[in-house]
Amino acid sequence: MSFDLVLFGGTGDLAWRKLLPALFQAFRHGSLPPQGRIIGVARDALSDDDYRALIARRFADVEGEKRPSDEEFERFAAVLQYQRMDLSQPEDYALLARRLRERHADTVVMYLATAPALFTTVCEQLGAAGLATPATRVVLEKPLGHDLASNRAINAAVRSVFDERQIFRIDHYLGKPSVQNLLALRFGNALFEPLWRRETVASIEITMAEQLGVEQRGAFYDQTGALRDMVQNHALQLLCAIAMEPPINAHADAIRDEKLKVLRSLSTWTPATLLQDVVRGQYSTGTTACEGVRAYADEDGVAPGSTTETFVALRTEIANWRWAGVPFYIRTGKRLAAREAHIAINFRPTPHAIYRTPLGAANRLVIHLQPRDGVALHLFAAGQEKRGMRISEAQALAPVQLDLDFDQRFGSQRVGAYERLLLDVIAGRLNLFVRADEQEAAWHWVEPIMQAWAEQDARGEGPRPYAAGSWGPSAASALVAREGHTWMEEC
Ligand code: BG6
Repeated sequence: MSFDLVLFGGTGDLAWRKLLPALFQAFRHGSLPPQGRIIGVARDALSDDDYRALIARRFADVEGEKRPSDEEFERFAAVLQYQRMDLSQPEDYALLARRLRERHADTVVMYLATAPALFTTVCEQLGAAGLATPATRVVLEKPLGHDLASNRAINAAVRSVFDERQIFRIDHYLGKPSVQNLLALRFGNALFEPLWRRETVASIEITMAEQLGVEQRGAFYDQTGALRDMVQNHALQLLCAIAMEPPINAHADAIRDEKLKVLRSLSTWTPATLLQDVVRGQYSTGTTACEGVRAYADEDGVAPGSTTETFVALRTEIANWRWAGVPFYIRTGKRLAAREAHIAINFRPTPHAIYRTPLGAANRLVIHLQPRDGVALHLFAAGQEKRGMRISEAQALAPVQLDLDFDQRFGSQRVGAYERLLLDVIAGRLNLFVRADEQEAAWHWVEPIMQAWAEQDARGEGPRPYAAGSWGPSAASALVAREGHTWMEEC
């Protein structure tokens, strides 16, 4: 099978950091179909060789085994080309068309790693230039819009040119091996299914904590904030993976139908829940990884007096038979104490205690998403008695863990998120991509939060400050403490 992958935003941050390295790894391991071209597109006047040299310079900074040898890079460079384009100019699309017609590949992937404001224009121009053929697939990076209306407008424009089955909306969390493992844990094993419900589960926590700040993306981030950047997409996709019903098969629409049902069952916000169940924070100065760091307000590109949130914690419920009444807590933020993403399923405690177990002790299943990829089941065990112990000490149960480390088990050379997703696009597999209706349901659910914050801003009530390097505002701990829970690190 032959393919052409046209990378709009070919000299942008995402291309350098994620897409080109992922494509190189796929190429190196022989996973890319052999007859392929990768065509970077940007405004700069570069020749194919200039583009290759730029990429070579970027790859030279890569450390360890991910760095290509000279011979490997030379082979990879042979599939790289460059097309200069001004994305508003129809004649530039005609030039692209000419290049693509040189060989009529079986599959043509248009990867839009550009500002979302350009999605509509690019798709319309592709259509006008005759580049939206049945062989074409279009990949849209997040964020797809900044609210429900803009999301709908983009989706409508893209669908006026492409069929839904040609549209690949990326949420790179879905490509992570740890998320694949979560689905495998649930739907490849019968063991947990009877426990996966309100009768046994007390609460569920989803944490996506980052140590990094906004890096070079201050201006973008200031327009976006944590709710749009992480909650509307990544966090809700994780929530779907945890809460969805078993799909009838592994086909894309069967999976997406079930996710959509979850999104539509999320509790509707009320003025009271918006006030009590959502915490918005912004980092002030502090220390992360032993280094003093500046406040968000002082980051480059951030508007003076910005009220953009860098932290969100919230509580919601899913109104259906399986989950009614179970709190789902979501927490995400930048400049937190650690880079750590996990989902914790907190089970109910034993109904009656015959052992001296620690106060409030209960079982917990933790799906570790990153930095480690694994599953740990937290249990209690007897057997800690040592000679000489007092009998009362010996009778207390000890917390123990059944711990599975997938990196150790399967090796750390597994396919990364972007590599997985790029290969899926080329192969036409939609399972790990988000359908338009899922996205709309997610925007619909976050929109009242955005509105409530805009009203708070108007009253001069901005986000709560938290010290960089902490776990966020204390109100986030209070949010879960109300129902007797704690976030996982704080136990
Ligand atoms: C991106 C966000 O989607 O996800 C970034 O735009 C964030 O702000 C990143 O840093 C986190 O992804 P990961 O894979 O590093 O957890």
